[in-house]
Amino acid sequence: MGMRDKKVTAIILAAGKGSRMQSDVPKQYLEIDGKPILYYSLRAFEQSSVDDIILVTRQEDIEYCQNDIVDGYGLSKVSCVVAGGDERYWSVWNGLQACEKTDYVLIHDAARPCITVERIEESVSSVIKWGACTLGVPVKDTIKQVDDNNYGVATPIRKYLWQIQTPQSFSYDQLVDAYKKMIQDKVTDITDDTMIIERYLDLKTKVIQGDYSNLKVTTPEDLDLVQNFFKKNKKSC
Ligand code: CTP
Ligand code: MG
Repeated sequence: MGMRDKKVTAIILAAGKGSRMQSDVPKQYLEIDGKPILYYSLRAFEQSSVDDIILVTRQEDIEYCQNDIVDGYGLSKVSCVVAGGDERYWSVWNGLQACEKTDYVLIHDAARPCITVERIEESVSSVIKWGACTLGVPVKDTIKQVDDNNYGVATPIRKYLWQIQTPQSFSYDQLVDAYKKMIQDKVTDITDDTMIIERYLDLKTKVIQGDYSNLKVTTPEDLDLVQNFFKKNKKSC
């Protein structure tokens, strides 16, 4: 645990199918500079002060991830590789079950390879300070809410709008508590963990400013942006 008396665990989510990417292999395994996208997030967390890492993948990819990625690149903080579920929140839930006793969890999308060690450290210190936090960036465009026929129906004030990224960081016990309530409620419209905290706990998530470069690889054009990021930052090794 180093200088800190709190244990921090990272859960890296890589159990998606990547349907919007329309590639044969799930996007987390597409290569950038000769290494799978998933590797870059694992490397950043490995180099950070987090104590251990839980990797969540599809059942059929566990062996490949353990052998080729975790062992292959010597990622010593990855304590286990577990199977995810059909929805992102089930993958998070499985990751939470796999955690050994811990104080805080950082939930991160493997599809965000440009996460930096600096932003991970800010997430760690912020979650210890505020109890729940997420990285995000102020939106640059005006955001319009539309109806089913694509008519604009509302324009929320831009200065209050942020795009939310990962890692999203919580007290382990509080997140598990919120998840148990959500599961009882049988909801299906959940897209991230801060939503669950908002709905089921009397707790606010602090939004801390991250980088626009911490984008989520979602569609094919995102790959070029990520490639440029690593070229510019000479981070590939
Ligand atoms: N994820 C997961 N388990 C799921 C769904 C998603 O672990 N059942 C992970 C993805 O691997 C990704 C992150 O959550 O790292 C963010 O999800 P998203 O970008 O939506 O990825 P996919 O669900 O794989 O892509 P798509 O929605 O286009 O199918
Ligand atoms: Mg998805």
